[in-house]
Amino acid sequence: KSDSTYDYIVVGGGTSGLVVANRLSEQKNTTVLVIEAGGSVYNNPNVTDTLGYGKAFGTDIDWAYETTDQEYAGGSSQIVRAGKALGGTSTINGLVYLRAQAAQIDAWEAIGNKGWNWKTLLPYFKKGEQLQDPSKHPVLDGSGISFDPAYHGFTGPLKVGWPSTQLNDGLAQKLNATYQNLDVPVQFNRDPNSGDMVGYSLYPKTLDYELNIREDAARAYYYPYQNRTNLHVWLNTHANKITWKDGHEAAADGVEVTLSNGKTTVVKASREVILAAGALKSPVLLELSGVGNPDILSKYGIATKVNLPTVGENLQDQMNNGLEFESKKSHADGKSADYVSYPSAAQLFPNSTALGADLLRKLPAYAAQVASANGNVTNASDIYRFFKIQWDLIFKDGIPVAEILLSPYGNTYSSEYWGSVPFSRGSIHLSSADPTAAAIIDPKYFMLDFDFEAQVQAARFIREVFNTEPLGDMAGAETTPGLSTVPADADDEAWADFIKGKYRSNFHPITTAAMLPKEIGGVVDTSLKVYGTSNVRVVDASIMPFQVCGHLQSTVYAVAERAADIIKGRL
Ligand code: FDA
Repeated sequence: KSDSTYDYIVVGGGTSGLVVANRLSEQKNTTVLVIEAGGSVYNNPNVTDTLGYGKAFGTDIDWAYETTDQEYAGGSSQIVRAGKALGGTSTINGLVYLRAQAAQIDAWEAIGNKGWNWKTLLPYFKKGEQLQDPSKHPVLDGSGISFDPAYHGFTGPLKVGWPSTQLNDGLAQKLNATYQNLDVPVQFNRDPNSGDMVGYSLYPKTLDYELNIREDAARAYYYPYQNRTNLHVWLNTHANKITWKDGHEAAADGVEVTLSNGKTTVVKASREVILAAGALKSPVLLELSGVGNPDILSKYGIATKVNLPTVGENLQDQMNNGLEFESKKSHADGKSADYVSYPSAAQLFPNSTALGADLLRKLPAYAAQVASANGNVTNASDIYRFFKIQWDLIFKDGIPVAEILLSPYGNTYSSEYWGSVPFSRGSIHLSSADPTAAAIIDPKYFMLDFDFEAQVQAARFIREVFNTEPLGDMAGAETTPGLSTVPADADDEAWADFIKGKYRSNFHPITTAAMLPKEIGGVVDTSLKVYGTSNVRVVDASIMPFQVCGHLQSTVYAVAERAADIIKGRL
């Protein structure tokens, strides 16, 4: 193996990596190697079970990254999960297929990424997708599912749809009626994947309807193509760092790997090294390869190849909390109910205009706080620009400010939720020149108070939903946190122990190798090439410049599809 040379080496056989490897290897004269630290999970029931969310957590296919103690969020650390397997995090995620609000992708272009907007990304969402039409599945009749075919693909590799286990007992319609009865109603949204997410919807998932199993990146983009002789995958192989050609220029010529037998070797790439190791690994691989902040690299004896101090900065995630209520009716096991509501600021906050004005005044201070937390590696005036765009998205474009899920099980209704666009930004950096050492991950959850306010207000909103008919009559007492823990009229302070004590990472880390102009802190340019290198790209969730309101995978797949066309020279 060590003698081999490939045209392209893709580091990380996950969600994005397998898309790019698949598309590049469509060209018969192009050789592609995928390096994946995990193994195959094709027959792993913790992966395939469409109702098995969480079963893989803590097993050997979960990286289970640990954050530093979170000083603004009660002091404890958090586990951020990510898949360690062929298929990456798509093998352990919650299957939800929800994109972004169009204006959020347009913001990528507005901040300086020419060519990246909703209109140019939509064809790639569709190219990857194989929507399984629910109208062909009689078991879903009357379930309330709807979609707009104009926004979907039907012939792509990735199967998306609603499961045969979909609950079909009228709850979806009752919930819809409840949302209409709120003081500020939330309307039914026929298709939240159309670029307009606000409203209440029944969302699709990445699954194979016929087989009732998870559809992950390996099942969609690798296994049907595994006989391609120009596409190789090395499983259980850990990438340690990029190797460089001799000379001044930063041109990659390969990757140092530790093979499954424990031996370390270098595999050569004649064209490009493409990082797809995920938002909590790709920036660390860059640092291990000498691309990053010289002050950090020198601490660990790593020579700087490219001085790019913002590698690993701008880390953003969301915070997930959950409320639970008793249900007067018992729900059968083995059903899934995939209901989401996306309120806008005007729908979530009773005093949205005043809150927006207050937040606008705070943005310069927020930006200064983020910049000073990282020693001004990112510039406060640049961070302010990002924040102002985010403010405009919230208060002018009306993007959703929270995601509220609802699922019934047993005698319970549970409602997980999160503020969709927190402002807090942290960082990830290596802690050692040893490529297997854990990185220092500090998302700075709840550093900025708007993030906490949104998280509190979404909890109040859920209480209102459960106090509104007809759902109000179907639900019993609130069991988490419960009115004895957080009283009905609790102020923000009274919510703090519950929210900061019980939240978890929402597992949506992004922006650690941001696609942005270099002068405002970018790590990759609009062709996803790392600044200062001639042939290293990043194609995973690290590159997203702003958080999206949907879940990440659909956007990760679409970005990777577009990345492949860029690498092929088609764009
Ligand atoms: P991804 O993690 O998929 O791929 C990285 C790959 O690189 C992995 O296979 C990893 O093993 C490999 N790797 C890392 N370091 C390496 C090294 N040094 N050498 C070799 N290989 C290496 N999104 C969504 O849309 N709907 C949802 O329901 C959910 N739910 C959800 C639940 C949970 C628990 C998590 C953790 C995440 C989600 N997400 C989600 C998020 C979504 O799944 C995620 O953002 C994308 O799958 C990330 O894709 P990437 O390609 O960026 O990384």
